[in-house]
Amino acid sequence: MATTQMGPAQERFDVLIIGSGATGLTAALHLAPHRRVAIISKGPVDEGSTRYAQGGISAVLDKTDSFESHVTDTLDAGAGLCDVDAVRRTVAAGPDAIKWLLGLGVPFTREARDGRSQLHLTREGGHSARRVAHAADATGLAIEEALVRTARVQPRIEVFERHLAVDLIVHEVDGRSSVIGAYVQDGATREVQTILAPIVILATGGASRVYLYSSNPDGATGDGIAMAWRAGCRVANMEFMQFHPTCLFHPQAKSFLISEAVRGEGGRLLLPDGHRFMQDFDSRGELAPRDIVARAIDGEMKRLGIDCVYLDISHKSPEFVREHFPTIHQRCLEYGFDMTTEPLPVVPAAHYTCGGVVVNSHGQTDIPGLYAAGEVSYTGLHGANRMASNSLLECLVYARAAAENILSADKPLPPEKLPQPPNWDESRVTDSDEEVVVSHNWDELRRLMWDYVGIVRTRSRLLRAQRRIRVLAEEVHEHYAHYRITPDLIELRNLVVVADIIVNSALKRRESRGLHFIRDFPERNPDLDRHPTILTPRPLSNA
Ligand code: FAD
Ligand code: SIN
Repeated sequence: MATTQMGPAQERFDVLIIGSGATGLTAALHLAPHRRVAIISKGPVDEGSTRYAQGGISAVLDKTDSFESHVTDTLDAGAGLCDVDAVRRTVAAGPDAIKWLLGLGVPFTREARDGRSQLHLTREGGHSARRVAHAADATGLAIEEALVRTARVQPRIEVFERHLAVDLIVHEVDGRSSVIGAYVQDGATREVQTILAPIVILATGGASRVYLYSSNPDGATGDGIAMAWRAGCRVANMEFMQFHPTCLFHPQAKSFLISEAVRGEGGRLLLPDGHRFMQDFDSRGELAPRDIVARAIDGEMKRLGIDCVYLDISHKSPEFVREHFPTIHQRCLEYGFDMTTEPLPVVPAAHYTCGGVVVNSHGQTDIPGLYAAGEVSYTGLHGANRMASNSLLECLVYARAAAENILSADKPLPPEKLPQPPNWDESRVTDSDEEVVVSHNWDELRRLMWDYVGIVRTRSRLLRAQRRIRVLAEEVHEHYAHYRITPDLIELRNLVVVADIIVNSALKRRESRGLHFIRDFPERNPDLDRHPTILTPRPLSNA
């Protein structure tokens, strides 16, 4: 893997991958023996949600567990909206995915079981068995490091760090469109260049930073969803934004995640008076699926007018806590909390985008040549609520499926044969002297999404959000048309598109189900079982 500093002006590759998390790097590693691959990432190569994943990756790995049980739990968490084939396919590929990671040297935690050394499996919400393989409480970092290390020795992978994809380039011949590359801004020079490839894979992750409080890193701004939408792809199930129940409540902690595995290993959720409340809401208690736990916490906080609830694992020995959760323990100490001796104050925060760009079982989108995989995509696996630790699994399984489909093409189009698109035109724009508008609009968008499109919704709040998003879309469009682009403006432009899609999807679903709870329609409507919300792009918002 060569890491390229200089801009890739007019470079051509067999495959362009946008994103270098678990999805992008997995796809690249499967493709690289046979194709010349460019990966771009808008930050450092190892930045993205993947590196922050804590709990682990789910797969059937113990003889007391079964594929059927993993399928049933996923369908149950997904509340009647999962695509059963997608679930079966993903679950069946789980053990192989873990084997592949072990082959790359991922240091999964082990234990002696049945007289031999085996992977330690933890539990998380919705899982009826121990089936989450993990590297202590920093599984994502271990996976990302192994992927980067392996990619570095692949001469056919070229990585462009700090390169931001602005838009896809779609070429139309005889009324038929196909993707031929992307416009990409080089973070060092701010020049917008063209990378051409007959195959583009979107591996850009999710959009949870559309909310004021989120467990996600700053870059989770839904760029891939917005780019695909602008290019003409359908997007599904965007009303199902997942809120993780337990992020640390501390002004400086930026919604630091306290893994669900803490509850999997015995952690209890408590009210300020010490009452263990989850049993009042679901017989599975703290290990109910995430939508149920987050809604219960939100409800209790509003009912009692409290700022947070508490997560307590101090009844376990300090050695147990430190061994299982070294990273979380250390980070909490930095904020003044010792989880070996006291409960942690926690609140829900936006965590995962269950919907995304519609793809088939090979990761193909509506546009020929354009694939999407990982959190940016909608495969049907998660339905109305993703079960914990099924996301990393989906990244690996679908990245590989996409790569295999790409490699199966009889006659891949050589990149030299691609048409030459127009260069990025900056002749009519100037540098902005009003960057503050971008940061104000950014704050306003995130706050209104938090206030009006959060864990509990109403139609009137959604309509209010929709009106405001449209005003923001107009302002962003103005800015985009007149000023030279900046990464902040590009991300805001994408967030506005994604916010609009989330609100429109939420308005379309006239029932409550999984992560989408709306007071006007508080019940689940069985007629809508297996009916995803699919939106088709239309010239509605200006951004
Ligand atoms: P990411 O890992 O987010 O990577 C996205 C990549 O796209 C980055 O390289 C980014 O730079 C790049 N990118 C984005 N936009 C652009 C652009 N415009 N131009 C260029 N590059 C761009 N899931 C689990 O299964 N188990 C867990 O234990 C778990 N824990 C989690 C803990 C936390 C704190 C978080 C935030 C998530 C967790 N998840 C977990 C979810 C899981 O980590 C993510 O869904 C998954 O890692 C997404 O991988 P990805 O490859 O699709 O995207
Ligand atoms: C966690 O560790 O709680 C996150 C797991 C996930 O999001 O799948």
